[in-house]
Amino acid sequence: MDGTEFYRKIVLTVSGNRVVKWLSIKYGKKLARRFIAGDTLDEALDEIERLNEKGIMVTLDHLGEGITSLDEAAVYREEYLRLIEGIASRKVKSNVSLKPTQMGLGLDPKAAYENIKAVVQKAKQHRNFVRIDMEDSPYTQATIDMTLRLHAEGLTNVGTVMQAYLHRTEEDVKALMKAGVNLRLVKGAYKEPNSIAYQKKDEVIENYKRIIRLHLDQGVYTAIASHDDKIIDWVKVFAKQQRIDKQAFEFQMLYGLRMNDQAALAKDGYRVRCYLPYGTMWYPYFTRRLAEKPANLMTVLKNMFK
Ligand code: FDA
Repeated sequence: MDGTEFYRKIVLTVSGNRVVKWLSIKYGKKLARRFIAGDTLDEALDEIERLNEKGIMVTLDHLGEGITSLDEAAVYREEYLRLIEGIASRKVKSNVSLKPTQMGLGLDPKAAYENIKAVVQKAKQHRNFVRIDMEDSPYTQATIDMTLRLHAEGLTNVGTVMQAYLHRTEEDVKALMKAGVNLRLVKGAYKEPNSIAYQKKDEVIENYKRIIRLHLDQGVYTAIASHDDKIIDWVKVFAKQQRIDKQAFEFQMLYGLRMNDQAALAKDGYRVRCYLPYGTMWYPYFTRRLAEKPANLMTVLKNMFK
């Protein structure tokens, strides 16, 4: 295990500790701000306008995951319906990302399906698109199944996410591509055992390139969501060599990370989409960002002493 892999494991483990969680929630909100656009939909929509002006599209996420009742899921569903209306009425360039557990997948898959379907239907009315984020491995199959079922029911304005660290991903990508599902490709953000996931950075990158290639080679539109220059530069070179149009794929990055680079890519004519979260349930999202990069933790620590 190299230093970065060790760091990532430690942060994900420590942040699961109850005391750390309590302390962070009590004192950490201001620090999490760097990665979150605001508490309210209006604040988020204002920020989307600012990003759109720089040529950056958005995928809007209302924070929340791991809920404990279906009533909570219903509240989130309503928030998503409101959010889709908000995007339409402000005429901003943004689609929508949601977490399946936020819609109840961990409690009642049937109810979760109906909640997500309601959101996808509303998005369809507004010609918008819904991305079902991929969470940890207990939900992989259910998320794929849900996405395929929505497609089969004629709701093709929904896609999901494939994580390059999972061994199963290449096969999943092939099956989902066959069904015409729009995919976001990522490395993967959760702590997964080595029985099902690559642990070495290089192996993840190799698999990542493999699944990107599967898309680009066949002219299938794809979203490449990474801050890693090893991936971004590789995609640029590969697309150029193969004469793949810049409109045939998009780069995605998270809000608060490499914002100048996001604008620069857009200026260069690439399609760029920023994943913009808002809301008050920021803790799990925030700790995954800290786990990804020591520099993120350092920025937060520096701000603590300002
Ligand atoms: P990583 O964090 O591994 O960084 C690798 C290298 O990139 C660094 O060493 C550095 O060279 C460069 N780099 C990174 N950040 C930089 C910075 N700020 N400045 C300069 N250089 C930097 N995961 C998941 O499991 N399910 C999901 O649904 C999603 N969804 C999602 C959407 C979007 C839009 C993004 C960008 C990511 C996700 N992810 C995700 C998270 C993803 O799986 C992964 O954990 C993170 O993107 C971190 O991996 P990266 O490829 O970005 O690079």
